[in-house]
This record gives sequence, C-alpha cells and structure tokens, in this order.
Amino acid sequence: MVGYAFMGAAHSQAWRTVNRVFDLPARATMVAVCGRDGAKVAEAASRLGWAEAVTDWRALIARDDIDVIDVCTPGDSHAEIAIAALEAGKHVLCEKPLANSVDEARAMVAAAVKARALGVRSACGFNYRRVPAVSLMRNLIAEGRLGAIRHVRAVYLQDWITDPNFPLVWRLQKDKAGSGALGDIGAHIIDLTQFVTGQTITGVAGLTETFVKERPLPAESSGLSASAGAATGEVTVDDAAVFVARLSGGGLATYEATRFATGRKNGLKVEINGERGSLVFDLERLNELEFYDATLPTAEQGFSRILVTEGDHPYVAAWWPPGHILGYEHSFTHEMRDFIEAIATGSDPTPSFEDALQVQLVLDAVERSGAADAAWISVVES
Ligand SMILES: NC(=O)c1ccc[n+]([C@@H]2O[C@H](COP(=O)([O-])OP(=O)(O)OC[C@H]3O[C@@H](n4cnc5c(N)ncnc54)[C@H](O)[C@@H]3O)[C@@H](O)[C@H]2O)c1
Repeated sequence: MVGYAFMGAAHSQAWRTVNRVFDLPARATMVAVCGRDGAKVAEAASRLGWAEAVTDWRALIARDDIDVIDVCTPGDSHAEIAIAALEAGKHVLCEKPLANSVDEARAMVAAAVKARALGVRSACGFNYRRVPAVSLMRNLIAEGRLGAIRHVRAVYLQDWITDPNFPLVWRLQKDKAGSGALGDIGAHIIDLTQFVTGQTITGVAGLTETFVKERPLPAESSGLSASAGAATGEVTVDDAAVFVARLSGGGLATYEATRFATGRKNGLKVEINGERGSLVFDLERLNELEFYDATLPTAEQGFSRILVTEGDHPYVAAWWPPGHILGYEHSFTHEMRDFIEAIATGSDPTPSFEDALQVQLVLDAVERSGAADAAWISVVES
C-alpha cells in the first residue's frame, strides 16, 4: 500500500479484516506500506498492521513477493504509481478520483487494458458502491422495480473548510488534487448514481465557485486536520460545484458537491424517482434504504424503510445477525472482498479504470461548463 493516512488507515482496516470475515479463495497478506518519511511510515506500519515500511514506492513494485499495489496517495501520483505497477504485473487498486485529468485517466486505462490481457487486474476505490443499501438500490433498479428512471437527485455536503482560516491543505491545491469538492466528493455521487441506475451521464451544465480564494499555508497537516502557518497562498480548486445532467436512459439529474454546507459533515444523499417508484439513500443512515413502491394499492403506498441488515442483503450474511448494524468502514472491507475474489477467480473487478474514466470525463465537463457560465457540455464516450 502506498500512503498511510486517511484512506491508508481505512484500507488497512479492511485488509486486516477481509479474510477474517469473508471466506475467500485467496488470502490478503499485508507485506509492506510506503510513505515518504521513514520514521512516520515505520510508526504507521506498526500501528496499521503492515510487516514492513519503505520510503520509495518503486521498491514495492520491484518485489516478487508483492502481487497487489493499493494506491492511497493524493491524485497527483495515482497515474505514475498505477501505470508503473500494472506494467510490472501487479494488480492495482487505486483510490478515487482515478486521476487529476482526463489525459492521465486515459493513460491509466491504456495500461489497464494491456495488463488485463495478461491477467493483471485493476479497480478504482469508489467504496460507496459497497454499502449494502447502495448495492440493494442497484439490484432493485436492475430488477425493474422503479421502471424508467425520470430523476436522479444527488448531494454530497461537507463543511470542513467553512472557516476561512482553515489552511491550504493539498485538497485545496489543483496540482495535487486535480479539483476541489467536485473531484473529491462530487466524483462519489457521479459514480454512485451511474452505478445504481446502470446509466451514464451524457451531458452537463454547471457552476463551480471558490468562496475563499486565499488561505494560510499549513504549518503541519495530516489527513483532514491541519494547523495554519503565517504565510498565505491561493486556493486553486473549487469549494463547491452544482450541475444538472442528462442520463443515457432519458432521465434528468441534479448534483451538488460542496465543502461549505455549514452543519453537514459527510452528507451524501441520493434520491431516484422512477415511473414505478422511488428509492432514497442517506449515508448518515447507511443501514437503511427508503422505497416507495407505486405498484402497491393506493391505500398501502408510502415510503417504507428497509433495514438493510438481513442475511439476504448484499454482503450482510458474513457479518452480524439482523439489526446489528454496519458502518462506514465496512464498505472498504467489501471493496477488498470483491477485489480479492475477482483476482482469485480471474475476472475483472469493478469499478474498472474505464468506469472511473467515465467519472473523470463528467468531472472535466462540469469544470469546463463552470468556466463557461454553465454552458452545456456533452460528455464524450470514453
Ligand atoms: N474512498 C473515499 O471515500 C475517500 C476518502 C478520502 C480520500 N479518498 C482518496 O484517497 C486518496 C488519498 O486521500 P487521503 O484522504 O488518504 O489523503 P491523506 O492526506 O490523508 O493521505 C495521503 C497519504 O499519501 C502519502 N503520499 C503523498 N504523496 C506520496 C508519494 N508521492 N509517495 C508516497 N506517499 C505519498 C502521504 O504521506 C499520506 O500518507 C485521494 O485520492 C483521495 O481522493 C477517498
């Protein structure tokens, strides 16, 4: 694994847990973790459960006893690490968004296609697909329970940089992060809605805004926390993005991604309206799915709350008895479960780099639309 902070910790927990919970045809062994600071990565290795710590990711890729490279670094190093790893015959799991630009994402897809021909697999870490309620949402839509999809309404709301004195961490720098709220959290709702509907976004019109244009440079930062230094610098990404979209199935969609929704900590909410019913998912109540079945007799219609903790719900049987709820971290364990199973059975894990390129094309289209006063931009097929 490369990178050991926020996602590094989430992925480590999943790698530690996955074989203890799921009965899989292959076993994950946590061989080595990479970071740039020798002392810090050694401490992280011992805390997170990795046998060794190294300071150059190339050392991981050169080793014969490593089969999988898990990329948990900021977007500016995804393409370089993932492409080198795939070329060295390592399966790659890469955090989202896949890259910082469409060009990088295309290069990653080209490497993935070549590697796939040799049985080397790749996937992008859109973990919310693996929340059981989200998987159930997809299954119900695939079974036709909503009929034709008319509306997708998706928001991802956070508030961690509303204070103008919050420092200019890497997530606020375009050269490191690619974009701001758009690529960080907007990417999640783009992938999630394309996943559950089985449709793609074909065009967008949107606005982006950077509300706080200058911030103190960080004295020190780790994960999402940081302390401010005396000097300041320019914020080079969006603080918020809103856009409307057309879906390949003819529906209309709205999206909002912001880090300025005061009071909203990690508010991901998606509502889908179809001709036969509606589904609603709210990450703050991730064990639940709301379902309105318009095919029921009128007197019985109404939103019902499905507690997604039954053994016949996706992923749940391996965990606890009904009603013994799951949390955020389980989505990562499920991600590793599906990744390991695909590798062991010689199939391609999802979301593929191609799926993640589709998300990148949407991000790029929203950015270009925002720069052109909400002009309509078609999302060209990858
Ligand atoms: N799936 C999710 O829900 C989710 C949530 C947060 C972040 N992410 C994604 O995960 C990735 C990492 O984000 P994070 O929140 O973990 O960031 P972070 O700042 O918490 O951690 C980044 C880690 O990468 C290391 N690093 C940076 N450049 C490196 C390099 N060149 N070589 C080796 N190590 C390097 C840092 O030292 C740190 O350990 C990003 O792509 C981000 O978009 C995904």
